[in-house]
Amino acid sequence: MCGIVAYIGRKPAKHLLLEGLKRLEYRGYDSAGIAILGTTLKVVRTVGRVRALEDQIEKQGEIDGTLGMAHTRWATHGGVTEKNAHPHLDDGKLGHGIALVHNGIIENYAVLKRYLEDKGHVFKSETDTEVLAHLIGELYRGDLERAVQGALREVTGAYAIAVICAKEPDTLVVARKGSPLMVGVGKDEYIVASDSSAIVAHTTQAFTLADYTVAKLTRESFRTTTVDNVPVDAQVKELEFDLEQIDLGTFEHYMLKEIFEQPRSLRVCMQGRIDDRAGQVVLGGVSEFARRLATARRIVFVGQGTALHACMVGTYLMEEMAKIPSDWDFASEFRYRNPIVEEGTVVVAVSQSGETADTLSALMEAKQRGALALGIVNVVGSSIARETDAGVYLRVGPEIGVASTKAFVGQVMVAAMLSLFVGRRRFLSSEFTLAYLKQLKSVPDCIDRVLEQSDHIRSVTAKYIHRENWLFLGRGVNYPVALEGALKLKEISYIHAEGMPAAEMKHGPIALIDHGMPAVFVATRNSQYEKVLSNIQEVRSRGGHVIAVATEGDDHVRSLCEDVFYVPDLPEHLQPLVTVVPLQVLAYHAALMRGKDVDKPRNLAKSVTVE
Ligand code: G6P
Repeated sequence: MCGIVAYIGRKPAKHLLLEGLKRLEYRGYDSAGIAILGTTLKVVRTVGRVRALEDQIEKQGEIDGTLGMAHTRWATHGGVTEKNAHPHLDDGKLGHGIALVHNGIIENYAVLKRYLEDKGHVFKSETDTEVLAHLIGELYRGDLERAVQGALREVTGAYAIAVICAKEPDTLVVARKGSPLMVGVGKDEYIVASDSSAIVAHTTQAFTLADYTVAKLTRESFRTTTVDNVPVDAQVKELEFDLEQIDLGTFEHYMLKEIFEQPRSLRVCMQGRIDDRAGQVVLGGVSEFARRLATARRIVFVGQGTALHACMVGTYLMEEMAKIPSDWDFASEFRYRNPIVEEGTVVVAVSQSGETADTLSALMEAKQRGALALGIVNVVGSSIARETDAGVYLRVGPEIGVASTKAFVGQVMVAAMLSLFVGRRRFLSSEFTLAYLKQLKSVPDCIDRVLEQSDHIRSVTAKYIHRENWLFLGRGVNYPVALEGALKLKEISYIHAEGMPAAEMKHGPIALIDHGMPAVFVATRNSQYEKVLSNIQEVRSRGGHVIAVATEGDDHVRSLCEDVFYVPDLPEHLQPLVTVVPLQVLAYHAALMRGKDVDKPRNLAKSVTVE
C-alpha cells in the first residue's frame, strides 16, 4: 500500500533510493517516482514498476544530489497515471519547490482543495496527496518543519510523509500518523522508509516514528516533535533484521522461497516456547495476562485476507483446547457493526504486517469497548503490535511475496500454542499437552514431506491449467484451508476459484459443476472424513474432476479421485498446518504456467493501510 523511502546524507541519493524502492515494491507497484535535490530539484515519475522508473531516469539524464525521496504507489485516489504518481509538488506561481511523498489517505482533502483553489493554487493530479503538498506550500514562511507541522494540524486521515523544499537543501522533514515510517540513523546520514527492509543495508540503528510525530533531519542531527512543536523523545534501537532474510537466494520467486522456508520458520516460531518438562507452552508476551485469558468468556479473532483464514482456524483450536466460546470476524465488518463487547471478551488481531488498517481499527474499537486486546503479528514494532495489550510474534521472518504463505502457517502455529497455553491453565493435563506439543514439533518435518511432492503437484496443476473455474472444499478446521486454497489460486493466477464448506456445495454451487471442472477437496482422516467422501462422490457423479488432499497411506481416497496430494497424519486441529501446503504449491505453479507475476499480482498490495 505505497512504499516511501527518503535520504539525507553525503552519498549520491539516487542509487540508494532506487534500491530501497525495490525492497518496498511489494507494498504497491502501479507507478513510481523520485525527487532529488541537487543544484535544482529534479522529479521523475512513471507508470509501472521501479524498473520503468530507472529507464525513465536514464532517458531524462542524470539526477544528482544527496537529498531525495522516492515512492512506489498502490492507487487509491486517482487512476494509475503519471500525473497521479508521487512525488507531488506545490508548483505553479505560488510554489516554493516543495516535493512530497505520502502513504495513507488525507480524508478531508476535498475541503482543503477548495480552500487552496480559492487562494489560487492549481492542482495537476486527482490525488489527495497533492493537496498536502500545496497546503505545506501555502503555510511555508521559510521554515519547512513549521510548515509541515502547521499543515498536519489541518488534515484528518492517515499519513507517512517525507517532504523536501528546494529552498532548504539541508533539511528532510518526515512525519506519520497511522501509516508506518521508520528512520534509520547512520553516520551523517538518515534513511527513512515504510519498513526496515529498505534500511538494513545501510544501518541497523533506527527508530519508529510515533503517531502525530514530525522529525526534522539534517545531515548532522535530528529532532522529533509533535505537530504542535512540542519536543518528543525518539528511541534509537538496533534493528533485528538480517539482509539474508530478504534475499531470494537460489529461488526464482519470493513466494516459492517462503513456501519452502515454512519448516524452518515454524521451528523458529516454536523455539523457546515449548517446555517439554512441564508440558507447558511459554509465551512471554502474554504471560502477564494469563489469568484474564484463562477466565475469558469469549474470544474473537479478527483479521483480513489470509490472516482471516488463520483467525478461523484459531477459533476451532481455541474451542477445542481451551473450551472458550470463540468467533472470528472480518476486522472490517467487526469494526462497523456496533460490536457487543461484554466483560471477559478477548479480541485477537491477527496480521502479518501489523499495519492492515481494518484490523488496526477493529482492535482500537474493541479496546475502547473494554476488551483485552491481543495480537498475533509478524512485524515487530508494527502499529498493531504497539496498540495491543499483549501479543505473540510469529517470528517467521520477513514475508515479501504478496501472496501470504509462511505467515499463515505461523499464525496457525501461534494460535495453536496460545490455545494450549490457555487450555493448560484451565483444565488440560500435562500429559495431554505434552502429547500435543510433540505433534506440534513434528509439523516442520511433515511440511518437508509435503514439499517433496512439488513436482507431482506441478504435473497435476498442468492437467487442469486451462480450466477457468475451480472449487475448493473442506469441512471443519479444513474449511478455512479450502478458502485459503481458493484465495491463493485466484490472487496470483487470476483463475476464478471458490472455497466453501464441502456440505454447502449441495445448496447451490453444485450447479456449477460440469464435465472436467476441478474440485479440490481437503479429505484427510478426521472426524468428518466419511462425510467428505460422500461430497466427493457427489462431484464425481456430475462429471467434476476431484483432486484430494489426503492422509498418507489412504488408498481408498486414491480410488475415488483423479489426483491425490498426500500429507502426513496429524491430530485433526493441526491438519491445516500441512493441508494448506500443497494448495500453496498448486497456486504457485498455476500462476507460473499462466505467465503471471507471482510475487506482484495485479491490483494487490502486500499491506493494505486504507480501510
Ligand atoms: C492483503 C494481502 C494479503 C493479506 C491481507 C492481510 O490483502 O495481499 O496477503 O493476507 O492483506 O494482511 P496482514 O498483513 O494483516 O496479514
